[in-house]
Amino acid sequence: MINNIIASSVSIMPKWFIKLFSKSYIAGHEPKEVIDIVKNLNAQGFLATIDILGEHINSQEKTDSVTMEYIQLYSDIAKNSVDCNISVKPTHIGLDISMELALENFKKLIEKASESSNFLRIDMESSKNTDSTFEIYKNLLKSYPKVGVVLQAYLKRSMADIEELAGSAFNARICKGIYKEDKNIAYQNPEDISKNFLAMAKLMLAKNSYACYATHDLQLIDDLVSLTKEMDSDPSKFEFQVLYGVPMKGKLKKLLKSGYKVRVYVPYGPDWYDYSLRRLKENPNIAGYVIKNLFAKK
Ligand code: FDA
Repeated sequence: MINNIIASSVSIMPKWFIKLFSKSYIAGHEPKEVIDIVKNLNAQGFLATIDILGEHINSQEKTDSVTMEYIQLYSDIAKNSVDCNISVKPTHIGLDISMELALENFKKLIEKASESSNFLRIDMESSKNTDSTFEIYKNLLKSYPKVGVVLQAYLKRSMADIEELAGSAFNARICKGIYKEDKNIAYQNPEDISKNFLAMAKLMLAKNSYACYATHDLQLIDDLVSLTKEMDSDPSKFEFQVLYGVPMKGKLKKLLKSGYKVRVYVPYGPDWYDYSLRRLKENPNIAGYVIKNLFAKK
C-alpha cells in the first residue's frame, strides 16, 4: 500500500529521489558508461541492445543529433567488439515531424549498421504509430535485412500482423505493450494479454521466424520455455529479453545455463528523468526497493 501511495505521487517527488531510483535502471548518461555496462553484461553471458532515452522529438535539429549519436554508438560497439545491437523509437528520430524525415534518419542508421553487419531494432510506440512503424520497417528491409520490429501482445491486431509479415527472415520482439490503449483495440485483462503473447510466440515459431520474448513475467517465461520444447524449436531461433536492472530472482542465470540466449535492453542518456518516472509508475514495488536500499546502505 505504501508503495502504491509512493507510485501515485511520483510526479511530485523530488528529482534527487528519482535520480537515486534511476541508477539501477539506467546505464549512465554517456556512451562510455553504457559500453562499459554492456562489456560487463557480455562477460556474464548476456547479449545487449542499447537505447538512447527519449521520444516524441519535435525539432529536426534534435532528431539529427540523436541520429548522429546512434551512428556513433554503432562505431563504439564495433570498436569495442561487444555483442550488442541498437533499439530506436521512431518518434525519437523524426516520426512526429514527418515520415520522410524518420525514413531518412533510419536509412542513415542502417547504412552505418551495415558497415559492421549489426542489427537495428525499431521499438514500437503507441497504436497511433503502429502502421507507420511497419511502413518504415518494410521500407528499410528493401535495402538491409538485419532489421526487426516489435509486436505488442495487448493489441488485438498483432496475430494478423504476424500473418502478414512473418516468414523465415522476419525478426520481431514480442512484448505485452506499455502504452494506454482503448479496449476496442487492446486486451485489458492480464490473462488475455499473456494468452495472446503465447499464441503469437507459437505462430512465430510455426512460421520459422526469429522471436524475442521480452518479459519479466516469470510464469510467462516458463510457459514460453515449455512451448519451445513442445514445438521442438532450435534455441538459436529465439531469445529472451529483459530491461536492465529489473529484479528477476535468478531466472536469467538459469536461462543462460539451460542454453538459451538472453538479451538485456540497456537505456542510457540525459533524458533519464521521464524514463524513470514511467518505470516508477509502472511498478510501485520499485519505490519500496529504493527505500529499503537507502536504509540498508546506512
Ligand atoms: P508484467 O507487467 O506482468 O510484469 C511481470 C513482473 O515483472 C511483475 O512482478 C512486475 O512487477 C515486474 N516488472 C515488470 N516491468 C518492470 C519494471 N520496468 N521494473 C521493475 N519490475 C518490473 N513495450 C512497448 O510497448 N514497446 C516496446 O518496444 C517495448 N520494448 C521492450 C523491450 C524489452 C526488452 C522489454 C523487457 C520490455 C519492452 N516493452 C516494450 C515493455 C513491455 O511492453 C511491458 O510493458 C513490460 O515489459 C512489463 O511487462 P512484463 O511482460 O514484464 O509483465
